[in-house]
Amino acid sequence: MTLSLSRKLLALAGFMGCGKTTVGRLLAERLGWHFVDLDTRIVERAGATIVEIFRQRGEPAFREVEAEALERALGETIEGNRSTVLALGGGTLTREENLERLRGAGAALVWLDCPIEELLERCAGVTDRPLFRDEASFRRLYDERLASYRQADYRVDASLAPAEVVERILALVRLTAVEA
Ligand code: S3P
Repeated sequence: MTLSLSRKLLALAGFMGCGKTTVGRLLAERLGWHFVDLDTRIVERAGATIVEIFRQRGEPAFREVEAEALERALGETIEGNRSTVLALGGGTLTREENLERLRGAGAALVWLDCPIEELLERCAGVTDRPLFRDEASFRRLYDERLASYRQADYRVDASLAPAEVVERILALVRLTAVEA
């Protein structure tokens, strides 16, 4: 699978704190593409924060809303024929159907891979992530999630500054655009 400018849909995956939103927004700006943040879509759709959805309805309900939000976002991208950078949630790829939808939409999937120590530092003190409870469970969840991120088409070192991560992704885009 190649990542080319004609693909029009680039999805960023990775664990909490890896920079999906920050990098995604910058990347979309650089490419002149539309930016969609799945967590923001979920909040808009549910009319509640992510913390509230988890607290009031539980994680299974959150995953349902997440899957619906993904389906809608992909539908808009395809129907509107809009080149889009899509920042996924940290757990989006744990659902097989989400991965299938992304693949069906022709998304190039990029894993923002960041060491756990760096992620812990970035997420410490943040209160809007219901799945960041304590260090031990954060580490466990990270280990459980790795297999899902490895399904991505590309891996980029996300321990670097966001602007540098963007450059690396752009290098991938240019490289494969030349090859295509
Ligand atoms: C989650 C990550 C969060 C958000 C929700 C669940 C997860 O997104 O979707 O709290 O399961 O890892 P970020 O990775 O953008 O923080």
